[in-house]
Amino acid sequence: MRPLRLGMVGGGQGAYIGNIHRLAARLDGQWQLVAGAFDVDPERGRAFALSQGLDPARSYGTWQEMIAAEAARPDRMEAVAICTPNFTHYPIAKALIEAGFDVICEKPLTATLADAVALEQLARDSGRFVGVTYTYSGYPMVHEARVRVAAGEIGAVRTVQVEYPLEWMATAIEQQGNAQAVWRTDPVKNGRGGSIGDIGTHAYHLAGFVSGLTLDSLTADLATFVSGRALDDNAHVMLRYQGGARGLLWSSQVAIGHSNGVRLRVFGGTGSLQWYQEQPNELILTPLEGRVQVVKRGAPDLSEDAQARTRTPPGHPEGYLEAFANLYAGFAEAIRARAEGREPDAIGRNLPTAWDGLKGVAFVEAVVDSAEAADQPWLRPVAV
Ligand code: NAI
Repeated sequence: MRPLRLGMVGGGQGAYIGNIHRLAARLDGQWQLVAGAFDVDPERGRAFALSQGLDPARSYGTWQEMIAAEAARPDRMEAVAICTPNFTHYPIAKALIEAGFDVICEKPLTATLADAVALEQLARDSGRFVGVTYTYSGYPMVHEARVRVAAGEIGAVRTVQVEYPLEWMATAIEQQGNAQAVWRTDPVKNGRGGSIGDIGTHAYHLAGFVSGLTLDSLTADLATFVSGRALDDNAHVMLRYQGGARGLLWSSQVAIGHSNGVRLRVFGGTGSLQWYQEQPNELILTPLEGRVQVVKRGAPDLSEDAQARTRTPPGHPEGYLEAFANLYAGFAEAIRARAEGREPDAIGRNLPTAWDGLKGVAFVEAVVDSAEAADQPWLRPVAV
């Protein structure tokens, strides 16, 4: 099976997530990076492309140049990963879809709800594949959790507790020029939600993905602890799901001592389960009356969904890069299955798509609306 031809926008020298995409795309040999417009600075972008071994003719200065040139090639790139700041996702994705390319887009899908609605509609109408890299839905034990909840192993879900604490913005690093923090604290480039847009969207997707629940409504308390910062750096959100289940979501960029400590706990009528990204090979399953079970990645009786996303036997740890690679392998399978007119194999099912991206942006919008509402009915003074 030949690798699919991948293009990339963003992810140049000094960028964060682009390199993770390149590593993930390479892991299973399903993708070959053939073209890129890697940097907001055209010269730097071209130089970076050459440093990655790309053909000079496909080392582009801008994404507009890349789309025009690639669209005319018989060996054109097939899908393009968008690894740029949030506000650029929509124009780039729109142009790619209109030129007939599939898209792998970073989260949050867009910086505004209007853009997310338009992009999701465009994806649907065009039939192009749009995958969104909600990283945590690439982990095999997250899929195992989803399958077990759906099978009723913990009973009907009552409450979901999800958190994403980070410490890297505990001081005003954007005021010292940290490249990643500068655009993340600019409402135009980032969107209205600070921590809630950047990492709350991951937590929100994870909670819904595993629990199978659909959010009905929410109430939110946003805070900005670092002085001079324009967006929230800490968010507490109370969730009310359709059917009556409840949830709590915490996202924080100022949680000292925590680095990507994503944690999910789902409590049902007959048991609970817990997954923690710093121990991603384990799922803690506790039936009623506390007989705690550790379910390990790689065990032979795990679901097809988990096994399809597993490469090594139990005890050999797999982690973040493998989870990201699972998304890439899944996107490749979904694209191939569409071309061949068949149902995708397990790895190409239950993938985050434009719809999940839109839901994430709608969530951020509701959170910020709630927090900014002057008449928050749930805020009550305490007597003593
Ligand atoms: P970054 O600031 O490290 O890198 C952005 C890159 O995009 C830079 O190379 C910059 O030159 C380039 N760029 C900007 N405008 C461009 C344009 N018009 N044309 C070509 N290149 C352009 O940002 P970071 O942290 O890598 O984030 C990028 C995106 O990835 C964001 O949407 C962010 O939310 C998302 N992200 C997702 C993560 C995940 O776990 N899935 C983790 C980190 C970031």
